[in-house]
Amino acid sequence: MQGKLTIDPSNQIAKVDDRLYSSLIEHLGRAVYDGLYDPENPNSDKNGFRQDVVNAIKDLNIDLVRYPGGNFVSGFNWEDSIGPKDQRPTRLDLAWRSIETNQFGLHEFMKWTKQSGTRPDMAVNLGSRGIDAARNLIEYCNFPGGTYWSDLRKKNGAEEPFNIKTWCLGNEMDGDWQIGHKTAEEYGRLAHETAKVMRLVDPDIDLVVSGSSTREMATFGSWEETVLDHTYDDVDYLSLHRYYDNEENDLHNFLAKSIDFDEFIGGIVAVCDAVKARKHSNKTLSLALDEWNVWYHSHKQDDETAPWQQAPHLLEDHYNFEDALMVGTMLITLLKHADRVKIACLAQLVNVIAPIMTTEQGIWLQSIFFPFMQVSKYGRGIALQPKQTSDTYDSKDFKDVPYLDSIAVYNTDTHEVVVFAENKGEEAMDFSMNLQDFNAQNLVEATQFYGYGIKQTNENQQMKIQPNDQVTLADNSLKTKLAPLSWNMFRIKVTD
Ligand code: AHR
Repeated sequence: MQGKLTIDPSNQIAKVDDRLYSSLIEHLGRAVYDGLYDPENPNSDKNGFRQDVVNAIKDLNIDLVRYPGGNFVSGFNWEDSIGPKDQRPTRLDLAWRSIETNQFGLHEFMKWTKQSGTRPDMAVNLGSRGIDAARNLIEYCNFPGGTYWSDLRKKNGAEEPFNIKTWCLGNEMDGDWQIGHKTAEEYGRLAHETAKVMRLVDPDIDLVVSGSSTREMATFGSWEETVLDHTYDDVDYLSLHRYYDNEENDLHNFLAKSIDFDEFIGGIVAVCDAVKARKHSNKTLSLALDEWNVWYHSHKQDDETAPWQQAPHLLEDHYNFEDALMVGTMLITLLKHADRVKIACLAQLVNVIAPIMTTEQGIWLQSIFFPFMQVSKYGRGIALQPKQTSDTYDSKDFKDVPYLDSIAVYNTDTHEVVVFAENKGEEAMDFSMNLQDFNAQNLVEATQFYGYGIKQTNENQQMKIQPNDQVTLADNSLKTKLAPLSWNMFRIKVTD
């Protein structure tokens, strides 16, 4: 089996936005309680923040953290989460049929973002609430002082405004499972009016309007058109969500779903541009893929979980090696769309469909942690579209699927071309790469993530990224073998 790449500096897609490496923390299961916040745990600091978790998040170089949901936000009263902890109400969380104590709230989250080196991406409730709650929340967070809500923030210990830049106008409002689910017409009007009022309080914010929650929704496409008809001039980003599964237990069809992911993103771009053309607008809308991942392992257990528990074990997928390969190929696809996708949130971050899991004793890292960590660390710079040839296969739902998936990123600060390459085949691949018009100096690092059973999970912490010592680099050409079912990275120092 063979795979060949030609990497040309003029084949630029776009500069990779730092916010492509963002995530989501929702009040759901053990994400917040047990995950971020566990005051009784010896690994926590005086704020109750798990320090082992904070350190693992720093390793992932996460930028934005979307909060507090997810479906949770559509039934959330933000005022419940401020003020003295002993006066905060305990509520029913109807989205996840759990008990919410509000012991971790807005101020705790803002303090935690500082500690973890992340930035907030705050969602407002457009399900059970609307314009009034949103304008009060932004006044509380971003207005300097001298008004009811901004002075209450000061009284609660935050003298300076939080100055939250990025705001989501609700969550998955197209889904009938959502509290306060709306038609596209109803949501479009509400999002427009909410955006108007929020910008009156703070004109400098960025706004994300909710797109389709999956490509399979009957309203997919028409939802975006109608919502953008109302909000095109008000918002900076349109959101989209995408989760994949391998319920059918078909490895090759599973890994081929990156083609669906690519078409999904491309389709949404087309809808945005159609609205732009119809409106004779000069503005090109960017996308916020603010939930993406593999999600299915926990469905059965979740169906059997008793309701009305506090911090129950929900959505605790244990990811295996094939899931890591799926996340790898999704990351490559994201980088291929770096011209339009400016925000992407791996959903989620801790304990809930997450790369990081906590126990009372410590943390363990899931298989999907490793490709995400590498791309987030080294996938910075200008994304370049390689010219690629590869053997292909047909799967149940896809034809001509390349065994090789790849992307290059040129980091102009470190003068490195970094290539991520995945071999989706069960045979080793003869791999060669021509760095046309780059002057390749030396190989800085070559790694491979391979050799695990496709169903192997990582509770025992055996998985690790290993060096690839079988690489030659001469005359601007790199040659090696890609191991069967492997995720690979090459870092090459170049001069201009
Ligand atoms: O991430 C889990 C859930 O998936 C979120 O709450 C919701 O927005 C999506 O359906």
